[in-house]
Amino acid sequence: MRTTVGIIGAGPAGLLLARLLHNAGIDSVVLESRDRAYVEHRQRAGILEQGTVDVLRAAGAGGRMDREGLRHDGIELRFDRKRHRVDFPALTGGRSVTVYAQTEVCKDLIALQLKDGGPLLFEARVDAVESATADAGSGDRPVIRYTHEGRDKTLRCDYVVGCDGFHGVTRTVIPDNVRKTYERRYPYAWLGVLADVAPSSDELVYAHSERGFALLSMRSPSVSRLYLQVPNGTDPAGWSDERIWDELDARLALDGDWALARGPIVSKGVLPMRSFVTEPMCYGRVFLAGDAAHIVPPTGAKGLNLAVSDVTVLARALVRRQRTGSADLLDAYSDTCLRRVWRAEHFSYFMTTTLHTDPDQSPFDTRLQISQLDRITSSPHAAAELAENYAGLTIG
Ligand code: FAD
Ligand code: PHB
Repeated sequence: MRTTVGIIGAGPAGLLLARLLHNAGIDSVVLESRDRAYVEHRQRAGILEQGTVDVLRAAGAGGRMDREGLRHDGIELRFDRKRHRVDFPALTGGRSVTVYAQTEVCKDLIALQLKDGGPLLFEARVDAVESATADAGSGDRPVIRYTHEGRDKTLRCDYVVGCDGFHGVTRTVIPDNVRKTYERRYPYAWLGVLADVAPSSDELVYAHSERGFALLSMRSPSVSRLYLQVPNGTDPAGWSDERIWDELDARLALDGDWALARGPIVSKGVLPMRSFVTEPMCYGRVFLAGDAAHIVPPTGAKGLNLAVSDVTVLARALVRRQRTGSADLLDAYSDTCLRRVWRAEHFSYFMTTTLHTDPDQSPFDTRLQISQLDRITSSPHAAAELAENYAGLTIG
């Protein structure tokens, strides 16, 4: 088989890239190692930045998002048992975010691709990317080797894009002496639950407490998504539903009138927290996008949004190359993306370390956290810094 752009991975990055290329008349093939049900149902991100919403809409993938997504004009920061609202439109010149789950974004993009797009193969595991050379202008074309329906297959491409997530294979195409990685691990994880109960707040609540961080989020007006900071290595089986609700209650507690509504917990899982960046995000005709190139801890809600901005920049560059012959945007791809990636890395790190309790944390460290949160919620300048980062910078 041969195609213009071989896309490895059908997460949000790979699926959206395929759609953007299809809309511009560029053919692609998407290879995904898992089955369709797995890709459509794994619980992950839930917050779309304004720029992500705009891109999905312009790509023709925003219909259900516009009907079912929940527009949020702010978040609540809760600390010292008090609530403090950060108003996004007022602080950013009108920007907001949308609650619409990654599962739904993937379902919408898969349905479109299967309806009128290029091939999207599930249970097609990529084993290797070959003939990748550093020279993007050379005649050498990369080749993807994959396994599908029990047989070894080959896909010849003009370009390969690794959208294969943190555990994918594409990153290893970049030779060790070219590739630089930067990493930070955190001494805690998140226990995430999905509960069949109406969210107890109209907006997301990020709570700092002496018992550790808690987050109240949602998937719809009738489904809550909640997270608790837990030690690394936590087994979710050790957390009964009652223990989870009690701990959420304790960490979200307020002076004043507010109660957390409880309901049946329908799923439970532990997420590790990591910051990670690979540079450069390309090697010759092979490009990396999304989690294949960078990971953020989820506190800033940036992972999915970064994946969207990478493939938006890449699609534009590939279209320009096809239409004009100019490779200038492709050559700039890595630098263009990394600027935004590092901003999101800093913001996610900042949100994480400001809101979580490190096991080695001293009372001094806690006072600094509270002082920083107090600054954000009392100075419009400090609040605007958070709001701009959270609602997202323009993609470019
Ligand atoms: P992915 O969604 O990881 O997609 C990569 C795809 O490539 C997968 O479908 C995988 O099966 C496929 N693949 C891998 N290897 C191969 C191969 N060899 N051959 C073929 N296919 C392959 N972000 C938030 O903002 N908030 C959250 O609450 C949040 N929760 C998360 C929970 C978890 C458990 C994880 C892992 C991530 C979470 N994230 C969250 C981050 C966010 O979901 C990711 O940033 C986002 O999924 C990135 O999209 P992607 O397309 O780059 O990668
Ligand atoms: C989610 O709803 O899953 C979610 C929301 C905000 C975050 C992280 C996760 O910062």
